Amino acid sequence: MTRHFLADADLNPQEQADVLNLALNFATNRHLHQPFAGPQGVAIIFDKPSTRTRVSFSVGVAELGGYPLIIDSSGSQMGRGEPISDTAQVLTRQVSAIVWRTFSQAGLEEMAHHSRVPVINALTDDYHPCQILADLMTVAQHRGGVEALPGQTLTYLGDGANNMAHSYLLGGATAGMHVRIAAPEEFHPRPKIVAQAIHVAARTGGSVTITTDVAQAAQGADVIATDTWVSMGDEESAHIRSRPFLPYQVNAELMALAAPDAIVLHCLPAYRGKEITAEVIDGPQSVVFDEAENRLHAQKALLTWLVNNS
Ligand code: CP
Ligand code: NVA
Repeated sequence: MTRHFLADADLNPQEQADVLNLALNFATNRHLHQPFAGPQGVAIIFDKPSTRTRVSFSVGVAELGGYPLIIDSSGSQMGRGEPISDTAQVLTRQVSAIVWRTFSQAGLEEMAHHSRVPVINALTDDYHPCQILADLMTVAQHRGGVEALPGQTLTYLGDGANNMAHSYLLGGATAGMHVRIAAPEEFHPRPKIVAQAIHVAARTGGSVTITTDVAQAAQGADVIATDTWVSMGDEESAHIRSRPFLPYQVNAELMALAAPDAIVLHCLPAYRGKEITAEVIDGPQSVVFDEAENRLHAQKALLTWLVNNS
């Protein structure tokens, strides 16, 4: 059976831990495995802009011995309306994996349905699961390994209805973490995803808290995370997306509530003075550039794991 990674819970707790341990091994030995030696091609498709995802998948596939094919959908027939099912059937005969950053989760699922090779979510409106693997790896690096993840408290503040919030819920619950989301009422996570995260957390010993109360959410947290208040695709409503989020800014006052050794995550790109202050993101508790580097190691581990288990 072909394994895909369309959302965080597509890896069960043991599988997620295996991928994270492999990622830590790749970080110390970048040429540990070369599953795409040949080289085999990997299609990496973008319907939205990207810096980190584009670079880390390109370099990662090359380091795995493969050949990265970067496809901007606007310059391909996808941008002219070729059906996803036809695209999937064409690609699946020529490449060893398909990585896609797009808008619709349903579109990504359709790609996977018609693909005989692993399909990976490189960000949709709903989830950003590759980012959360890198984030969990970063927490593991700073807390003594993957086995230290269960029981860690991760507090995410800001847009609770975006892809990062949803992926922290599912990925964090899978890792056995206590995931707290603090967001304005009208930007709370989708109830179905919250329910799924609660279900997963019940098995892993984690927990899920959704609140509007910043202080309650940040109190004693081991990890503080945030993301832009205006995700790709939200630009039209940008003018109304600042005011409700102002109390949720990650700043020195907020950090004083967290554990003294708390680390700060941000998937980047960051908007200093909006969701996070320069003082915090450029300060000693910030690990955002470890996190960005870990995209490379985590995705190499994921690709290796998927091809080995498909
Ligand atoms: N964090 C992240 O996915 O960055 P890019 O949008 O630059 O790929
Ligand atoms: N939530 C952000 C993440 C960017 C990496 C967005 O979707 O634009």
